[in-house]
Amino acid sequence: MRDTDLPQSPIPDTSFPLTAHARDAVRSLRPSQIREVANAGFGLPDVLPFWFGESDRVTPTFIRDAASAALALGATFYTHNLGIAPLRDTLARYVSALHGATSADHVAVTSAGVNALMLAAQLVVGAGDRVVAVTPLWPNLVEIPKILGAHVDTVPLVYGAGGWQLDLQRLLAALTPDTKLLMINSPNNPTGWVMTRDEQRAVLEHCRRHGIWIVADEVYERLYYAGAAGETAPSFLDLAARDERVICVNSFSKAWLMTGWRLGWIVAPAALMDDLGKLVEYNTSCSPAFVQQAGIAALEQGEALTRELVGDLRASRDHLVRSLSAVPGVDVKAPPGAMYVFFSLPGASRSLELCKALVRDARLGLAPGSAFGTEGEGFVRWCYACDPARLDAGVERLQAWLERQGAGQS
Ligand SMILES: Cc1ncc(COP(=O)(O)O)c(C=O)c1O
Repeated sequence: MRDTDLPQSPIPDTSFPLTAHARDAVRSLRPSQIREVANAGFGLPDVLPFWFGESDRVTPTFIRDAASAALALGATFYTHNLGIAPLRDTLARYVSALHGATSADHVAVTSAGVNALMLAAQLVVGAGDRVVAVTPLWPNLVEIPKILGAHVDTVPLVYGAGGWQLDLQRLLAALTPDTKLLMINSPNNPTGWVMTRDEQRAVLEHCRRHGIWIVADEVYERLYYAGAAGETAPSFLDLAARDERVICVNSFSKAWLMTGWRLGWIVAPAALMDDLGKLVEYNTSCSPAFVQQAGIAALEQGEALTRELVGDLRASRDHLVRSLSAVPGVDVKAPPGAMYVFFSLPGASRSLELCKALVRDARLGLAPGSAFGTEGEGFVRWCYACDPARLDAGVERLQAWLERQGAGQS
């Protein structure tokens, strides 16, 4: 074949700009610093990873069996945008038992918590709107409104002798009448902070007065250690009427060990549901039918599993906090919720560099505090949802690395 037989590439027309890139709101999204650290660790042998928010346990058999059985029966088709009726009914019963009467027409099934957050934001936020978020915070809650062209202001939690606390007056002052939405996550990732019922009441009353929407991310509500066994963290659903401007986001990922299944739900005013259905249609159309069947099994048969899991997580938290407290230079407190400790240590004032050094030189995978906003700088996050022996191995590596640093300096 002669060269002249090859298809000729088109001659670029330079009369118009050739750059192809996403719109500015997308280009200016923050890339994940947790991924940046994890990418630095990929390919390295023997890394102990505690950087992602995920248990090391596989989903329980009875949930996997329910999905297999549904698949065997041919549950491979599209479903209703808002979820199959049996799952919506089961969710309504579950939410009612925890937080008071909730009917199925206030419940929608989503493709896990992150999709629920996107849908909730799409429902109420548009370009130019002002959103307030309490930080440090899992980045998705801050970045999602920005995708929609909103402007996000942050209110920092304050770290002190009692751990992370909300400066309620500062939050109320930030919730000005021109604010469209408050995005709030409690129990909080990364700090483990839990909003008190009194704080929720004050915020709800203030938002009612000014017509501000609340999106409450309560995906860790079951992972709560400050109450009696089985008690859930305080929820906006305990206080709010079902038809007011409160949208609660939840997920099967954490309390039923189902991160990879991508199943979650929203509790919201019934008046939003038709519009929410349209948004689901244009985002994902629905969650997979066999995954929704697994969700029913999780809710109907999973209570013992969730309680056992929370007990184990509490033991892991206490174990890790005890071990880290014995490491010179580490300042750590036991948080009341979620599955992370967010602590300070020498070098954490540049937490991204510290975490990259830890993975490179100590084979220890932690998440930098700066990944959760500038307010998180000075801290690192450790997910303790794993076997205590692995936590011990991680703490040993941290201690040895810190000792080497100290020896290098003297
Ligand atoms: C605060 C918070 N909200 C929502 C999610 C979403 O989880 P998923 O999309 O797996 O339900 C996470 C996951 O880590 C989270 O930390």
